[in-house]
Order: sequence, then structure tokens, then C-alpha cells
Amino acid sequence: MRTIAFYSPKGGVGKTASAVNIAYLASESGCSTLLWDLDSQGAASFYLSGGEPGKGKKISKLLEGKVPIAEFIEENVYPGLDFIPAHKSFRNLDIRIEEDERSLPLKSMLAPLAEETSLVVLDCPPGQSRLTEQVLKVADVVYVPLVPTWLSMNSWHQFRDFVRDKKLGQKKLRPFFTLVDRRKKLHRELCEQAPDLFDRHMEAMIPYSSAVERMGEEGLPLEILSPRSNPAASYRKLWKEIQSELGI
Ligand SMILES: Nc1ncnc2c1ncn2[C@@H]1O[C@H](COP(=O)(O)OP(=O)(O)OP(=O)(O)O)[C@@H](O)[C@H]1O
Ligand SMILES: [Mg+2]
Repeated sequence: MRTIAFYSPKGGVGKTASAVNIAYLASESGCSTLLWDLDSQGAASFYLSGGEPGKGKKISKLLEGKVPIAEFIEENVYPGLDFIPAHKSFRNLDIRIEEDERSLPLKSMLAPLAEETSLVVLDCPPGQSRLTEQVLKVADVVYVPLVPTWLSMNSWHQFRDFVRDKKLGQKKLRPFFTLVDRRKKLHRELCEQAPDLFDRHMEAMIPYSSAVERMGEEGLPLEILSPRSNPAASYRKLWKEIQSELGI
């Protein structure tokens, strides 16, 4: 079982859209996949279930080890794609992890699924908390969507240095550009400079596109909603890169 996360300290940069599209493409390619929405806002549910908020269950039961993770899973949302929807109690996840030493770390929560699951995709909330540290510990690779602006680059440098200083696995980080608007000079310039800006990054860049915005309205992954669109092709490229890096 491999675990990946889509994380950024910044909000609204395409973490959830990326997590949902990659989880869908993984399942479509025959990889048994679990998408876990760790964000109490529950946006992933909107992208997957026709706009219906996920039912979700109280996270405390899982943290205390009272209810096995299997009971939180909605099976086969699409063939081969299982989903753990968010619950409003997830807003306490980082506080609970911080306060309650008895709470199970993410790694042990996921362990029982190892045999039946090839890939776990974590959709993380924005911000930096103890949950971030747990995600960095459990994930084999952390994909960090970045809008090509200097402020985003600044935030990326701060995050990368935090991960390096705390020894949380700087080598796991894979930034990639999202919401790329090629009409903007700065976007074009930063995208061209990507090989010089990062030690390790994903070559796929996700363009700004109204097709991605429509995912939330329609409750569908892009590959179903608009497979011929440019961002759908970019997400397929991103998935190929992820697949080859993980060897799955
Ligand atoms: N490539 C794109 N082109 C246009 N709009 C996009 C693109 N990617 C994401 N969006 C839109 O931007 C908004 C934020 O996207 P998303 O929810 O994926 O970001 P997020 O980083 O998960 O946000 P949050 O931090 O709130 O969880 C959504 O309205 C989404 O439809
Ligand atoms: Mg999100």
C-alpha cells in the first residue's frame, strides 16, 4: 500500500480538485484506491457525489480505536475507488491529535487496509498543524500544488524549510503548478523556470480552466465531466508521473 497526500499551507490552490482527479485516475487504471477527505469542509464529497455532502462519521471513534477504519469507508463510489468522507468533527482532528496522546496516529489507522488497498490519497486541509506532521510521516510522497506567483513561492520556501528543519522528509515533497494562466507573464516565466526553482517537482502543470470549476457543481471527476479538456490531459500526465514514481 502506498500513501500520497495533496497538501499546501495555502487555501484554494487546487488540493482537493487534484486529490479527487488523481484518485479517480488511479482507480480507473486498476489500482484499488482509497481517497480520505481529511478536511472538515468536505469539499471532496462535492466533487464525488453530485453535490451531496458526505455523511461521514465522528472522528473521535476512529481516533480512540473504538471503530475500525473500514466502517468509515463508502465503498466503490466508482469501481475501485473507496472514499472516507469528511465529518464536521474533522475540524478537531489536529487538536485531538495534539491533545490526546492515546489517539492513534494516521499510520496505525490506515494499517488494517494495507492488504486490500494499493493507493491511499489524502486530501488535506490548508494550514499547518500537527495533522500536517502526521501526514508528512505517513505519506510516501506529498504533492504540493502551487499557483505560479511570488507569494506562493515564498510560502513554498517557508514550508520546505519547516519540513527540512523538523526532519519530516524534505525529499518527499513534490511541488507542481496549478491554476496556471498562460496569459499572465509571471505565470509563463515561473513555469519555464520550474527546473531551476525546485529540486524535485512534477512536470505536469494544471491550467486554469472553468472545466475544473464545474467539477464542484456537477459532482464529477474531470475525466468523466470533460475528458477532452486541457486540464483533464494535464491530470492524466500528472497521474502517469505519480504512477511511475510510485511504481504502481
Ligand atoms: N485548474 C483550475 N482551474 C480553475 N479553477 C480551479 C482549478 N483548480 C481548482 N479550481 C477551483 O478553485 C477553487 C479551490 O479549489 P480546491 O477546492 O481544489 O482547492 P483547495 O486547495 O483544496 O482549497 P481548500 O484549501 O479550501 O481546501 C474551487 O472553486 C475549484 O473549483
Ligand atoms: Mg480542499
